[in-house]
Amino acid sequence: MRLYRLIVEVLLLCAAGAACLTGQTTGSNERVPSSDVPADAGSIVPNAAGYAGNTECKTCHPTIWATFYKNPHFKSLASGKAPPELTACEGCHGPAKAHIAAGGGRDTIVNAFTIMKPKAIIAACLKCHASDFNRANIRRSEHTEHDVACTACHSNHHPVSNRNLLAKSQPDACYECHSDVRSQFDLPSKHRVNEGFMVCSDCHNPHGGFAPTFAMGQTSKMLNQAHGNQQPCLKCHVDKAGPFIFEHQAGEIDGCISCHRPHGSTNAKLLTRPAVAMLCLECHTGTGDFGVKTSRGVTYPDHATHSMTDPRYQRCTGCHVAIHGSNTHYRFLR
Ligand code: HEC
Ligand code: HEC
Ligand code: HEC
Ligand code: HEC
Ligand code: HEC
Ligand code: HEC
Ligand code: HEC
Ligand code: HEC
Ligand code: HEC
Ligand code: HEC
Repeated sequence: MRLYRLIVEVLLLCAAGAACLTGQTTGSNERVPSSDVPADAGSIVPNAAGYAGNTECKTCHPTIWATFYKNPHFKSLASGKAPPELTACEGCHGPAKAHIAAGGGRDTIVNAFTIMKPKAIIAACLKCHASDFNRANIRRSEHTEHDVACTACHSNHHPVSNRNLLAKSQPDACYECHSDVRSQFDLPSKHRVNEGFMVCSDCHNPHGGFAPTFAMGQTSKMLNQAHGNQQPCLKCHVDKAGPFIFEHQAGEIDGCISCHRPHGSTNAKLLTRPAVAMLCLECHTGTGDFGVKTSRGVTYPDHATHSMTDPRYQRCTGCHVAIHGSNTHYRFLR
């Protein structure tokens, strides 16, 4: 009877997590790479892989220990409920019994992040952070593909703030590598990122974007989404979101960036062109007289007005005021 129960328990344990297999096939002193620990390793794994317990670290790493209570990763230690492979120091650095027995050293600790390759770092962090929605696409992100690891932006022990654990605050964290972008935010018309009113991650997801449901959501630009799957701009500029009874289909393909630069521009209102008329005429071709049937799906019934030689007609948005769309007029006159 007791033997039967033992077998059942072992089977249940194995069913709960593949870690039971790793635990059996590797000797108790052999280091198990943390990427082999399944993300759902919440099931109890016997403390066989050489965990020393986190309070052991205090003696030799007093400075790191001293500030750790403020770190969000301290929670697991404080609660005392997580299994050793998910708790505090050893949750990230791996089982450290051998490290302590050897009197320390970089080569005796499983995860020495300062000397690890980007892919290994990403795997070690994603052991716990893979299921967060916001990072669902991190493995396919431009950053990962170019070997930019979590630690390029995050610092666990020396962050500027314990919220988000960034090594530097934005935008400086990003300008480390994207220095060319800084000058774009110093142009006459701009979003006030350099002044600290906005951050890059208001529009970008540095962990990788989602499959585009609109052209501007190109995954390569790692754009954030607003309200589920819309352009990031609509998070703040809700009045431009529509739906309008009369949509201006101009933005249907490329979104707001059909007409605006997202970072900064030498033109007023972040426009792509110095004069509004030049912008409109990119699509509403037919200078001089609008009495031409034109390209890009824009049709012009015969029109004696809109002579481009008449300065009155050059200020398009003086009359077409509801340029983003209207609920009252099909030609955006109000
Ligand atoms: C007996 C003293 C001692 C104890 C106890 C100890 N360490 Fe260390 N540790 C060291 C020494 C010495 C080094 C080497 C420092 C160096 O190379 O600059 C080191 C280095 C490290 C590193 C270096 C990683 C890197 O990238 O440079 C990590 C991580 C680390 N220890 C984690 C731990 C953890 C986690 C614990 C507790 C489970 C712990 N240590 C307990 C002495 C100790
Ligand atoms: C969230 C994962 C994580 C946790 C938890 C963690 N570390 Fe680290 N540790 C890192 C990373 C990443 C680095 C590389 C440097 C950095 O990012 O600040 C590092 C670096 C180190 C270093 C190298 C020296 C240094 O200052 O960079 C030591 C020593 C160390 N950790 C010990 C510890 C100890 C002791 C604990 C528990 C009190 C601990 N770590 C908890 C991820 C972690
Ligand atoms: C053992 C599991 C585990 C590992 C490994 C781990 N984390 Fe965490 N991380 C957590 C938990 C749990 C939290 C706290 C979440 C909360 O506050 O609810 C957290 C919080 C964070 C936060 C702060 C979130 C916030 O809301 O401010 C950042 C940033 C972070 N982790 C980055 C990393 C990085 C980078 C690595 C790899 C060096 C890493 N983590 C490895 C479990 C882990
Ligand atoms: C290119 C820079 C960059 C890289 C690489 C990066 N992060 Fe982040 N991460 C950020 C920024 C910036 C924020 C703050 C986002 C915000 O303002 O909401 C953040 C926030 C977070 C948060 C807290 C907020 C949240 O989404 O829950 C966690 C956890 C996190 N990152 C984990 C990771 C992990 C794990 C990796 C690697 C697999 C990683 N990050 C790689 C820049 C980066
Ligand atoms: C360690 C260097 C590094 C840091 C830090 C960094 N990036 Fe990147 N980033 C890269 C590399 C490399 C690429 C891919 C090559 C390229 O397009 O420049 C990239 C690509 C991008 C792209 C896509 C560019 C494109 O043309 O498709 C965006 C958007 C981006 N990063 C935003 C950010 C933001 C926002 C931050 C700060 C939270 C940041 N990056 C921090 C190195 C970095
Ligand atoms: C107001 C929203 C917004 C903010 C804030 C923002 N970006 Fe962008 N960014 C975009 C959009 C939209 C694109 C895509 C432009 C395109 O495809 O023509 C982009 C493109 C990029 C690119 C690709 C190369 C390029 O210039 O087209 C990089 C790199 C980049 N952004 C980095 C950053 C960094 C770094 C910050 C913070 C300093 C930042 N962005 C802040 C919206 C924003
Ligand atoms: C986080 C909120 C936020 C997001 C996201 C955002 N904006 Fe803005 N935007 C603002 C604020 C605030 C202003 C007011 C200008 C200032 O900062 O002085 C502004 C101003 C503007 C202006 C007028 C500029 C001027 O010179 O008058 C345009 C055009 C604009 N945004 C377009 C966009 C586009 C296009 C996107 C998406 C790529 C976007 N915004 C995303 C907050 C945002
Ligand atoms: C067909 C071109 C076009 C498209 C597409 C477009 N805009 Fe505009 N937008 C303009 C023009 C032109 C102006 C300047 C109006 C004027 O002359 O006063 C403007 C002005 C703005 C302003 C500043 C003035 C105001 O009304 O608050 C904001 C903010 C803005 N646009 C946001 C957006 C956002 C967000 C999107 C995407 C949803 C977008 N625009 C799409 C042409 C466009
Ligand atoms: C990126 C291309 C593009 C740009 C730039 C653009 N439009 Fe349009 N516009 C369109 C398209 C496409 C339609 C829909 C035409 C249709 O339904 O046949 C449209 C429709 C219109 C209409 C309604 C016409 C009708 O027949 O229903 C007006 C008025 C208009 N645009 C004015 C402007 C003005 C003013 C500007 C400059 C601020 C501008 N557009 C910039 C593409 C553009
Ligand atoms: C003085 C006011 C005024 C100005 C300035 C103006 N429009 Fe118009 N626009 C109108 C009126 C009025 C109509 C006709 C509305 C109607 O038929 O209901 C119109 C119609 C249109 C139409 C639809 C034409 C059609 O035949 O379907 C387009 C496209 C258009 N304008 C684009 C522009 C562009 C581009 C500019 C700037 C180069 C501009 N408008 C400047 C008043 C103006």
